[in-house]
Amino acid sequence: MEEKIIDEQKQGEALVLEANKKNKRKLFIESYGCQMNFSDSEVVASILATEGFNTTDKLEEADLVLVNTCSIRDKAEQTVRKRLEKYNAVKTKHNPRMKVGVLGCMAERLKEQFLEEEKIVDMVVGPDAYKDLPNLLEEVEAGRDAVNVILSRDETYGDIAPVRLQSNGVSAFVTITRGCDNMCTFCVVPFTRGRERSRDPQSIIEEIDDLVAKGFKEVTLLGQNVDSFLWYGGGLKKDFEKASEIQKATATNFAMLMDMVATKYPKLRLRFTTSNPQDMTLDVIEIMAKHRNICNYIHLPIQSGSNRILKEMNRQHTREEYFALIDNIKRLIPDCAISQDIIVGFPTETEEDHKDTLSLMEYVKYEYGFMFAYSERPGTMAGRKMDDDVPEDVKKRRLTEIQTLQREHSKIRHDEFLGKTCEVLIEKASKKSDLQWSGRNSQNVVVVFPKEDYTVGEFVNVKITDCTSGTLIGEAIEYSDNN
Ligand code: SAH
Ligand code: F3S
Repeated sequence: MEEKIIDEQKQGEALVLEANKKNKRKLFIESYGCQMNFSDSEVVASILATEGFNTTDKLEEADLVLVNTCSIRDKAEQTVRKRLEKYNAVKTKHNPRMKVGVLGCMAERLKEQFLEEEKIVDMVVGPDAYKDLPNLLEEVEAGRDAVNVILSRDETYGDIAPVRLQSNGVSAFVTITRGCDNMCTFCVVPFTRGRERSRDPQSIIEEIDDLVAKGFKEVTLLGQNVDSFLWYGGGLKKDFEKASEIQKATATNFAMLMDMVATKYPKLRLRFTTSNPQDMTLDVIEIMAKHRNICNYIHLPIQSGSNRILKEMNRQHTREEYFALIDNIKRLIPDCAISQDIIVGFPTETEEDHKDTLSLMEYVKYEYGFMFAYSERPGTMAGRKMDDDVPEDVKKRRLTEIQTLQREHSKIRHDEFLGKTCEVLIEKASKKSDLQWSGRNSQNVVVVFPKEDYTVGEFVNVKITDCTSGTLIGEAIEYSDNN
């Protein structure tokens, strides 16, 4: 008799589960931080689609709210905390049964502690544990804590076809490496995303095949450190030395992967991010120069122009080596645009060091830049061993100085396009005017121009007539022969 009741209970539970699946529960998912988070959220949406979840953009109607979080700077974490307050308000007012999960780097960094600190949080899931989401959801529904922050040696989600969220149907991200082994002393990423591993080129090609079949025109290969891509049959990058002779002889590096993808899809625009100067080799630049469809744009963070600070940051190259790399890029791809990440106010940074950063910027004259004041991160080498000793007002002033200089350089770079014709891939209507299209040229600069009869997803040649600080303005003169 007792057995029968349990059986019936089980059957009942199974029926509820089935009904839930059929009922299509609603998932509200949002992402903060780097592109990898946005890309991971597409993997998560795919995993949960098989559990019957449809995505919604209305927080009020969500059964499950997931926030993919960033730990890179303190401010990024504060933004997420604010969002949790908002979820709490909505949950109380509209939907007391709403469940809330935290994904990504903050989940990995804070682990169980999150459940105590933020009462609204039901589930904490690190970046390598998304396949466990169905199990974790069951735990949550049974009223138990659900935490999985185990970092993996081999998870790359290579077998999951991401659900493209907020997609324009034109450009997509494809993850090729996960984790980072570089251990820059300021950076929390190696702790939150684990050791570096590369994805099987076969599964990368399959994902791109699918995108091309769906009409996508541009793919950005994504990783914390893409130039370090190395597939030798699986396993961590750091274990490559231990691989067999055959594995070593048949390994695929980043230049080979790019060559393969660019050759297979000659009409597909290819981009990649992020490059680490120490790992960007000449053969990558040569492959870029060889293929017209690989965009002439490299995001090449430098962090500081001072050799002493670069050393303190454990960046594995000098200012001079960086210049040599820039010279090689400009020699092989004269119209290549380069952008930077720079941190001001790293511990012990002097006025002299700061001047070195400014003079480095003068040498390169970056197209664009992402500039930050140093934010001490718990657990990192700099966080543990160095005093955050540059006063906030000095950090602020230095940040303003490099931002001002960057604006000047962006203007100089943009002026170089005046009167020239660029191939632009149309992505969407311009934010400022519905009569204009917006897209990017090969150098990743946004170009706007009158719509005429052109449409989203087409390549057009645009003559540049004017520019603002962030945008080129022009007129389409013809279809490009890439359509
Ligand atoms: N290789 C990664 C880097 C991720 S972090 C990538 O895919 O882009 C992005 C940038 O944030 C870094 O290049 C650095 O400039 C900045 N950053 C990282 N840690 C920081 C910290 N503790 N304080 C301020 N800025 C930081
Ligand atoms: Fe961070 Fe340095 Fe890796 S900035 S992501 S540890 S290359």
